[in-house]
Amino acid sequence: MSRIAYVNGDYVREEEAKISIFDRAFLFADAIYEVTAVLDGKLLDYESHLERLHRSLRELGMTQPLSDAELKEMQEQLIARNSLNEGSVYIQITRGVAARNFAYPENAGQTIVGFTLVEDFSGSPEAKKGIAIITIPDIRWQRRDIKTTGLLAQAMGKQAAAEAGAGDAWMVEQGYVTEGTASNAFIVLEGNRLVTRPLSNSILSGTTRRAILKLAESGEISIEQRRFTVDEAKSASEAFLTSATHIAIPVVEIDGVMIGGGQPGPVTRKLRDMYFAMARKA
Ligand code: PDD
Repeated sequence: MSRIAYVNGDYVREEEAKISIFDRAFLFADAIYEVTAVLDGKLLDYESHLERLHRSLRELGMTQPLSDAELKEMQEQLIARNSLNEGSVYIQITRGVAARNFAYPENAGQTIVGFTLVEDFSGSPEAKKGIAIITIPDIRWQRRDIKTTGLLAQAMGKQAAAEAGAGDAWMVEQGYVTEGTASNAFIVLEGNRLVTRPLSNSILSGTTRRAILKLAESGEISIEQRRFTVDEAKSASEAFLTSATHIAIPVVEIDGVMIGGGQPGPVTRKLRDMYFAMARKA
């Protein structure tokens, strides 16, 4: 069955969902996006996503083509029209359609699209077994705090991981882990100290990272927001990654080195369970 997507005010079958070849998203990746997880038909952590969307638009000098209420209504319509129980909703906002010119056009009229994806992230085998990752150089630009559709470096990283038989890649800059290709990176030292890189232009401010840190605080797990090296990660008792569409996934191998005996660890499991308990209660 074909999905219903949203394109500039219309709900259409995905085959009919089309945008111009002169859209700046296509020409320059001049677009921002958000991915919100859906569990039991409900949007998770919605306020965090909306806040980050506002920030991405502001940092790129783009306006918001729909009001906050209209944006939410569109996403809820997509969930309803696609009978989505578990998965995610994507929204992408571009600077619009204009003759090809690097400088920002005036009155280009923005493009806004939305679509859904069915995913079983609550019962994912990766969450139960954990994944192996590889590390790769972080070759991205220096505004990784903006959630743009310029994702080629991440696609290259994910491809390199797939070719190495791994589930993902962690990107590394000056010896320190920045983040995963589409996730934030965490390690646990000595069984109870959670370490993750502090927010800056070097990483995306993950909505799940934020939620997990809050849960760690309430679960009396100590938190260190600082950079960590690949060697530190390899000697950690646990490692995991977070994203809206995976919540928390244990990392049980880094560049062929086993972490925590190759099994998901108790801190990762506890935080993941706490997240689902919170999400299902909300
Ligand atoms: N990616 N870092 C990067 C580079 C990401 O692309 C993502 C999310 C995250 C985690 O952010 P959040 O917890 O808000 O999902 C961190 C999404 C899932 C994607 O591109 O599909």
